[in-house]
Amino acid sequence: MKAFVTGITGQDGSYMADLLLEKGYEVYGLMRRSASPNLWRIEHIKNRIKLIEGDLTDQSSLDHAIRTIQPDEVYNLGAQSFVQYSFQAPLATVDATGIGALKLFEAVRHHKKDAKVFQASTSEMFGKIQETPQNERTRFYPRSPYGCAKAFAHYTAVNYREAYGLHISCGVMFNHESARRGPEFVTRKITLGVARFKMGLQDKIILGNLNASRDWSYAREMMEAAHLMLQQDKPVDLVLGSGQTHTVKEWLEETCKVAGVDFWDVFIQDPSFERQAEVDYLRADPSLAASVLGWRTRVSFQELVQMMYEADYKSLNGPVYQ
Ligand code: NAP
Ligand code: GDD
Repeated sequence: MKAFVTGITGQDGSYMADLLLEKGYEVYGLMRRSASPNLWRIEHIKNRIKLIEGDLTDQSSLDHAIRTIQPDEVYNLGAQSFVQYSFQAPLATVDATGIGALKLFEAVRHHKKDAKVFQASTSEMFGKIQETPQNERTRFYPRSPYGCAKAFAHYTAVNYREAYGLHISCGVMFNHESARRGPEFVTRKITLGVARFKMGLQDKIILGNLNASRDWSYAREMMEAAHLMLQQDKPVDLVLGSGQTHTVKEWLEETCKVAGVDFWDVFIQDPSFERQAEVDYLRADPSLAASVLGWRTRVSFQELVQMMYEADYKSLNGPVYQ
């Protein structure tokens, strides 16, 4: 079996590549050019995967990739995924995250119509939530250029399924984290910041809104669900999350508890880290995913915090990526 993964250098793409290699797939990944290559998450497997140069904003490179690889499965995990940055660079975000998905679906339609495709949809599409918990029927109300771009990609996936019979499944993924999370996201900013504080390398962590609630789970388990979705005969859209929610403040408190430091010593609140439009509360209803896939998250909130803090603490003495 051959799989093509966009976003292979990112958190999810690297876990997906690990998982697919374990299952015996031939793994191809899309890698875009950057001034300094960003390969730290796939360093351990770089000799076992094939990296194809290209960009989600470039139709010809996607056409070339799909035409030459002829993948059985395509995982569209590439995106400008940082919500805050999407307010600073809305057009670039829409180009990669929204139109990029359309370009990939077009490449599949023209060059490998029977490939099964996974689209990385997001709980950010629920934005200003219309009900709690959020399920497959909850109305979208995105609150950022990123959320709008993902909603466009999601509806395009549904449309390409209905119009052209493509096998595209959308995983509406709630927040998922790991030691491979980018350090700009709040969970990793906190675990890395507290580890540095503990080692005397940093005085304070500067944070924005501590009251936001997120349904956090472990990224590796999320990729197991994405893979399972493409093993279904019929395409399906599923909400993927733990069903539990915690505030940013609780994540910080838990990290301080694991580190054995005083919560009040560690952080400063700065309104400049607050969002132009915030998503206040997210909590998944993952019951359909449980019944269709037999999947549920296993790593708890406390275990996830501990895993990430310990990896960061150790990495300050040399790289450790779980
Ligand atoms: P991530 O760590 O930010 O990785 C994003 C990946 O996309 C990177 O490999 C990045 O490449 C690549 N990329 C960005 N722009 C690109 C472009 N123009 N052309 C080709 N590749 C491009 O994100 P993640 O956490 O792994 O998330 C994976 C996917 O799931 C994303 O689509 C994200 O929006 C979605 N999602 C994530 C979560 C979550 O909580 N993690 C939840 C719901 C949905 P570089 O390494 O070169 O930057
Ligand atoms: N990044 C960041 N930095 N967020 C902060 C900070 C800070 O200093 N202080 C408070 N927050 C709050 C944000 O306002 C937000 O409410 C929450 O922490 C989580 O922010 P992020 O970790 O940046 O993630 P996100 O929820 O906005 O987006 C992530 O999850 C989405 C799924 O719901 C990303 O992975 C998206 O790509 C993904 O779609």
